[in-house]
Amino acid sequence: MNISNERLCIPALDLDFAVEAIKEVVWIDREWIPEAEGTSLYIRPFVICTDPYLGVRPAYTYKFIIILSPVGAYYPEGINPVKIYVENEYVRAVRGGLGFTKTPANYAASLKAQEEAKHLGYTQVLWLDGVEKKYIEEVGTMNVFFKIDGEVITPALEGSILGGITRDSTIKLLQSWGLPVKERKLSIQEVFDAHKAGKLDEAFGTGTAAVISPIGELNWNGNIIEINQGQIGELSKRIYDTITGIQSGQLKDSFAWTTEVKG
Ligand SMILES: Cc1ncc(COP(=O)(O)O)c(C=O)c1O
Repeated sequence: MNISNERLCIPALDLDFAVEAIKEVVWIDREWIPEAEGTSLYIRPFVICTDPYLGVRPAYTYKFIIILSPVGAYYPEGINPVKIYVENEYVRAVRGGLGFTKTPANYAASLKAQEEAKHLGYTQVLWLDGVEKKYIEEVGTMNVFFKIDGEVITPALEGSILGGITRDSTIKLLQSWGLPVKERKLSIQEVFDAHKAGKLDEAFGTGTAAVISPIGELNWNGNIIEINQGQIGELSKRIYDTITGIQSGQLKDSFAWTTEVKG
C-alpha cells in the first residue's frame, strides 16, 4: 500500500499501526471467519481522500479503512483451469503510469476488455504491454507464471504490473525447492512457440483471492492453445497446496508469512 501511496501522493501509513489495526478488526469479527475448505476471510484495507473539494490536487485529509468479507472460491472454476483471452486491442497500463499501484484507475481501464472476453466465454484477459502489445504483463487480478521446458518464467516488474504478494511467495517457494524463477520479458509469441514445440508444461496465475489459478486455455487472435490437456499441472498444485497449507496452519511456516491474531 505504501508503494502505491507514494505514486499517488498519499502519505505513507505507519506499518505497525496498520498491522495492529487489521489484527484488531479481524479479532472483533473472528466469528465471520468461514471454516470450509477453500474459504477465507478476505481483508481489504484501503485509503480514500476526504477533502470537501472539487478539483485536481493531492488531498490533505484521508481515511484508512479496513473491510472484511467471508469469501468462497474466487473463480467459479475453483482450482480448476481457467480460460484466458489474450487482449490485443485494449491496454491496461504503460511504464511510467499506475500499473504497479493498487488503484481503481487500473481496474476502470480493464473493465471493457474483461466484459468482451466474458462474452466470448473467457474468465479473464491476459494483458500485453501497452506499447508493442508483444510482451506478457499479467492477468486481470493475477500475476502469471509459465513453465517452459522445465524452467519457470514470470514477467519482470518494470512498472506496468502489480508486484503481487502471491507472486513473491511463489518465487520464494520455488527457490526453496531449487527451482529458481526467471523474471524477464516474455513474449506471447514465445509462449505459443513453446506450445507448438511441446515445451509449454504449465501456466498459472497467482493472486491473494484465487491463490493459484491454473490456465487451461489461451486465445490469442483466434489461435487457441490448450495447456497441460486443460488439467491442473503438478507444479501449480504443489504451490497451491503449500501456500494454502501454510495459511491454514497445516504446514510449517518457515518463511514467517503468518501472524497470530489474539484478543
Ligand atoms: C492487477 C493485479 N495483479 C496481480 C494481483 C495479485 O496480487 P496479490 O498476489 O498481492 O493478491 C492482483 C490482486 O489483486 C491484481 O489486482
